[in-house]
Amino acid sequence: MSESIVISGTTKKEKYEVLVPQIKALVDGESDLIANISNIVAALKQGMDFFWVGIYFVKNNELVLGPFQGPVACTRIAFGKGVCGAAWKEGKTMIVEDVEKFPGHISCSSESRSEIVIPCFKDSEIFAVLDVDSNKLNDFDETDKAYLEHVGKIISQLAV
Ligand code: SME
Repeated sequence: MSESIVISGTTKKEKYEVLVPQIKALVDGESDLIANISNIVAALKQGMDFFWVGIYFVKNNELVLGPFQGPVACTRIAFGKGVCGAAWKEGKTMIVEDVEKFPGHISCSSESRSEIVIPCFKDSEIFAVLDVDSNKLNDFDETDKAYLEHVGKIISQLAV
């Protein structure tokens, strides 16, 4: 694996285009799930300058906080609760333009303004969600969805 990442590009798409292949390379040859996910969220934070990025794992019918980068966050989320629980329940990516307008949003930081959550599947079951928060309103769009779903697939391939 490489031990550093190169950041380049001006548009969001250009940044993801440079970053996602490096994320794939970061985890090549390493089998430890937590080590790999730790590096993936660090690369996303570094490469995209997200306010908060992390993983919640499905454990005993709730979401439990995994590796993340950013301010401290809530540890456990019930099925269907908040944006993360909704993405888990619906089985699809959720984009929230304004978290204050999302019923049941779980506020881990008062600075968080918009959010995207990607479910990660293993054998058609969701085993984790990738959560990204922004401190700007309406910061996530279809470009984020496409590239972060690709990262979600990389994460899914790591799960055994
Ligand atoms: N806002 C999330 C909770 C997790 S934090 O954003 C890190 C939610 O509503 O599910």
